[in-house]
Amino acid sequence: MRDRLLAAEKVKAIEWRDSTLYLLDQRKLPREQAWVAYDSVAGVAEAIRSMVVRGAPAIGICAAYGVVLAVGARLAAGGDWLAALEEDFNLLADSRPTGGHLHWTLNRMRERLERVKDQASPLAALETEALAIHESDREANLTMAQLGVELIRRHQGNPQVLLTHCNTGALGSGGFGTALGVIRAAWLEGMVERVYVDETRPWLQGSRLTAWELAQEGMACIVNTDSAAAHIMKTKGVTWVVVGADRICANGDVTSKVGTYQLAVNAMHHGVRFMVVASSSSIDMTLLSGEDVLLEEREGAELLDVGGQPLGALVEVFNPVFDVTPADLIDAIVTEKGVVERPDAAKMAQLMCRKRLH
Ligand code: MRU
Repeated sequence: MRDRLLAAEKVKAIEWRDSTLYLLDQRKLPREQAWVAYDSVAGVAEAIRSMVVRGAPAIGICAAYGVVLAVGARLAAGGDWLAALEEDFNLLADSRPTGGHLHWTLNRMRERLERVKDQASPLAALETEALAIHESDREANLTMAQLGVELIRRHQGNPQVLLTHCNTGALGSGGFGTALGVIRAAWLEGMVERVYVDETRPWLQGSRLTAWELAQEGMACIVNTDSAAAHIMKTKGVTWVVVGADRICANGDVTSKVGTYQLAVNAMHHGVRFMVVASSSSIDMTLLSGEDVLLEEREGAELLDVGGQPLGALVEVFNPVFDVTPADLIDAIVTEKGVVERPDAAKMAQLMCRKRLH
C-alpha cells in the first residue's frame, strides 16, 4: 500500500533548499498558493507564531530547521555561540505553546547539538538531523495510514462514512498527514463512501485547508459547520470520527483542536467510533493527564471579525484554540509504533517501550 500512498501524494508545504526554509503560506490558501522563504530563526519563529505554518508536526519540523538557521548565524557571529543559542531555542519554544512536537524536536536538536558541538563544523550534522526529523515524520504518517486502515477494516466493513476536524493532512505534517492520511488511504482502498469535514472555527482549517487538500487529489468531501456534527452523526451514518492530536498525555488524554472534545462526547452518544492519529513524538509522558496541558488561548478579535468585517459587538470573548479529550472517550490512538485501543496509562507506557514499525 505504501507505494500507492506515495503516488497519491500531491501537496507539499515545507521545503528545505540551500540553507533556506520555504513554506507554503497557509493563511492565504485556498485563494493563493504563495511560498515564503526564511533564512533566519527569528523569521521561522514568526512564521510559526503568525500561522504561516500550522499543525503540530509541521510546526515541530520547522522548528528543527529554525535551529539549523540559528546555529549557522551564531557560528558566523563567533564568540560564545552556544550560550547565545539559548535565546534562539527559547524564541522557538515560545512560538506556539500547546503542540508537543515543537518541544520534542527542540529536545532532539539539543541532544544532537550536545554530541557535535565540539566538532570543527557542527552545522552539517544538525542539518542532517533536521532533515531526518522531517523524513521520519513523513514515514510515520505512511505507517499510521496503513494501521488506521487496518483498524477500520477490522471493526467494520465498507462503506465508511468518516468525519474529521481541523487540518491534519500534508499541510500540517511532514507529508501525507495524520488523520487525513488515514482518511486518504481508506479512500484509496475504496472503503469510503463520504467524508464530512468540520469547517473548524474560527480559522476555518477544515473548509480552507482540509477541503483544498482533498480537492488536489480529486477526493470529494462535504464541509459542515462544527455545530452540525452531532446531527450528522445521528442522521448520516457516520462510522468513524478521525482526528489528529497536538499533545497526548501519559494516561491517553488527547489535546487537539478545540471542538475535538465535543466530537468525542457526541461520538460516544451516537455509537460512532473515535480514532486519534498522531506520531509518538506528540506523546508527552511528563504530562500525567490533560489537566497538565497548557492550552493556547487566542485573541478575541478572531471571533469578532468575519472576513475582515468587524461585527461591532463590544463583548468579552473566550477563545481557547485547543481542548482535551479524555482517554475514556477514545476508541483508538494510532501511532507509528502501533495502535492503542481503549487507551489508559498502562497501555500508553507499553506503547512508548515499543520500536517504530518502519
Ligand atoms: O492551530 P493550528 O492551525 O496549528 O491547528 C492545527 C491542529 O490543531 C491540527 O488539528 C493538529 O495539529 C493535528 S495534527 C496535524
